[in-house]
Amino acid sequence: MLKIVVCVSGGGTNLQAIIDAVDNGAITNTEIVGVISNNANAYALERAKAKDIPAVCISPKDFETRDLFNEALLAGVHKFEPDLVVLAGFLVNIPPQMVADFENRIINIHPSLIPSFCGKGFYGLKVHEGALARGVKVTGATVHFVDDGTDTGPIIFQKAVEVKEGDDAKSLQQRVMEEAEWVILPKAIDAIANGQIKIGGDR
Ligand code: GAR
Repeated sequence: MLKIVVCVSGGGTNLQAIIDAVDNGAITNTEIVGVISNNANAYALERAKAKDIPAVCISPKDFETRDLFNEALLAGVHKFEPDLVVLAGFLVNIPPQMVADFENRIINIHPSLIPSFCGKGFYGLKVHEGALARGVKVTGATVHFVDDGTDTGPIIFQKAVEVKEGDDAKSLQQRVMEEAEWVILPKAIDAIANGQIKIGGDR
């Protein structure tokens, strides 16, 4: 059984997609052992509670320094003793120590086709604003392992999504979630849980 901790910051629709996939058997051999949010008001916390999944808020606002927050976050993750950490809309920079402690055991969902519209400053709606400003006709989502860079780790799955005439950032975000994120994130967890993913170098 793969024990996963899901880290969230907001609405938690990707968390919901994981919960639903575990429930309906699209993800097998997996248990969601905990949810961590950096934001006390994240609706994702309600989604976890509704399923009796242990959920905690670890907010930078409750710590005097970033280092103290990082320590608390790392301790919070370790407490659940996960095999895999899933960043599902977690809009916080992961402490380097966490990447070291969980080498090749952290995955992230990003709402673009990496290497486009990723890296520093590209998160949430900003990614879709960037795609619209550039006028791309196809965008999508990427699920990848997390290394010590921003959106630079080995890619697991990607899925393309059409940009439509008249899209704004919100409509594009919604389509990318529905058609790509909620599909490839559960698929990646299931593949990892069933030993189908191997990392060699940066692939
Ligand atoms: C998702 O679109 C996710 O890809 C994005 O934040 C949103 C969270 O939505 N993540 C990033 O931008 C990470 N760089 P959710 O809380 O409804 O899952």
